[in-house]
Amino acid sequence: MCGIVGAIAARPVTAILLEGLRRLEYRGYDSAGLAVFDGEEIQRLRRTGKVQMLVDAELQAPLSGSLGIAHTRWATHGKPTENNAHPHMSGEQLAIVHNGIIENFEPLKEELVAEGYHFSSETDTEVIAHLIDRAIHSGADLQQAFLSTVSQLEGAFALGVMHKAFPDQILASRKGSPLVVGVGLGENFIASDQMALLQVTDRFIYLEEGDFVQLEKDKITIWDKNQQLVERPIKVFEHNLSVADKGEFRHFMMKEIYEQPEVVKATLQGRITEDRLLEQAFGNGASELFDQVRQVQIIACGTSYHAGLVAKYWLEDIAGMPCAVEVASEFRYRKTVIADNTLFLTISQSGETADTLAALRAVKDQVLASLTICNVPGSSLVRESDLSLMTNAGPEIGVASTKAFTTQLVALLLLTIALGRRNGLSEQQEAEIIGHLHQLPALLLASVRLDKNVELLAQDFAEKNHALFLGRGALYPVAMEGALKLKEISYIHAEAYPAGELKHGPLALVDKEMPVVTVAPNNALLDKLKANLQEVKARGGELFVFAGIDRIQSEEGLKVEQMPDVPEILAPIVYTIPLQLLSYHAAVLKGTDVDQPRNLAKSVTVE
Ligand code: AGP
Repeated sequence: MCGIVGAIAARPVTAILLEGLRRLEYRGYDSAGLAVFDGEEIQRLRRTGKVQMLVDAELQAPLSGSLGIAHTRWATHGKPTENNAHPHMSGEQLAIVHNGIIENFEPLKEELVAEGYHFSSETDTEVIAHLIDRAIHSGADLQQAFLSTVSQLEGAFALGVMHKAFPDQILASRKGSPLVVGVGLGENFIASDQMALLQVTDRFIYLEEGDFVQLEKDKITIWDKNQQLVERPIKVFEHNLSVADKGEFRHFMMKEIYEQPEVVKATLQGRITEDRLLEQAFGNGASELFDQVRQVQIIACGTSYHAGLVAKYWLEDIAGMPCAVEVASEFRYRKTVIADNTLFLTISQSGETADTLAALRAVKDQVLASLTICNVPGSSLVRESDLSLMTNAGPEIGVASTKAFTTQLVALLLLTIALGRRNGLSEQQEAEIIGHLHQLPALLLASVRLDKNVELLAQDFAEKNHALFLGRGALYPVAMEGALKLKEISYIHAEAYPAGELKHGPLALVDKEMPVVTVAPNNALLDKLKANLQEVKARGGELFVFAGIDRIQSEEGLKVEQMPDVPEILAPIVYTIPLQLLSYHAAVLKGTDVDQPRNLAKSVTVE
């Protein structure tokens, strides 16, 4: 989704802005642009397509100056054209970048048009530029104009503004969309996330909802939503610089698939002993809160929702804890009944997903406590939830979530133990699960090593237009995740079903053109699943089955890939890997943009 970078410094900022945009590419976008004040004029350059095209254009016509803002746009209002790309300007004086959606832009636009303002784009953003301009023409200074404009806006926004007549400052604000301030020495920055600025600083201020910032070279002044001056803490972001680098891999997605055996160690580190969960991992006061929990409501979107669906099986089966799971975009808009003592659990890689955040805000006062399982420290969900458990997967750059999902599952298993303890899970059972978790990195490594075999299987997919994914029990959400991965990056239409549902409809679709992928670990449901596979085979369907060693044999129309033997509880995590590899290789064979699939964004900060 849209990305913002801004810089005010004593040195030229164009290279910093362009590098910032490059680092935001993973969020998803379809055009990019920047505006730099050269001491006399605001120079603006915009391009559709990749940031590299903007970089090439800037080489031809260099922009120079020590004050600038830049943007990657993911189209909402108006097609991805150069005219719609940000920054937007009002006359030659003022440039603005925006992430979010202004819901009341139409009446505001009509008002401005009636007053003679000319619009050069179809965007909602351009109204903000003209509203600020109008206020300045009525005698306001930039700060007053910005504040009075923001007070008229409905919707979600993160904004960065620069003005030719006020060349010593950038103004910024956030409400509903993410924005961080990067703190430098004699230079300061804004960006949609820290990743964009790691080349210039590792010190950040995470803005609160409604904050307004005046950024000068040597000074950062912040007002809160009530326009009171506030001090926000500066936090040092600890990172490994190699994260933004593909290393030996052709795509970030593949790098992230291969990282899973290592990153799950980071999810577990400091949270378990040899045989016990360290409950303090959930933060101060978590144990007392967990004592009172009687049910769990999980809210998430996309892949994170699938993690929640797996957790439902664990929470009800192992922890005896009633659990409901719902996609955030549905939950937030319906009248919900929240039972007493509900733990409200959000799951999110980015911590900025607009629907998930809105769902949390809608019910925060009605629930016992909120907990988020998240991968981005300092993100909105982490800051606004009572408790958080970080997945520690490291930045995920590929738009298709991989390591974020498996680490979410690990974190959810830790929560299952914590709640299970209060509901009859014995010390011996806990020790057994923890023992299995210690084996997990090795099991994931064994699965990743199936890469070459899965690449061969993928050859049968690249030419197909549709695929079915089947699973039973906690492996059904894994099948859903496999289908989502295939859709996202290879654009092959895929659907997942609980295998027992086949004969209730989808069996009608089965023929030799419909590959049927099945995750079939060794568990109590395996025999039932085998019967479902026979139903497919009998109708000429082509089966691709991931199964435990020697559990199912390959035969005509049925290819089996043997998985390492796994404890039943870990199967959803381990069996996810071959499905990620399958989608990856199908996408590579089809020649799609694996890391930045069309129309998708990494961080979905608008609803
Ligand atoms: C995953 O591959 C997707 N790109 C998408 O479904 C994602 O999981 C969803 O948008 C939720 O994002 P979040 O985890 O950052 O909240």
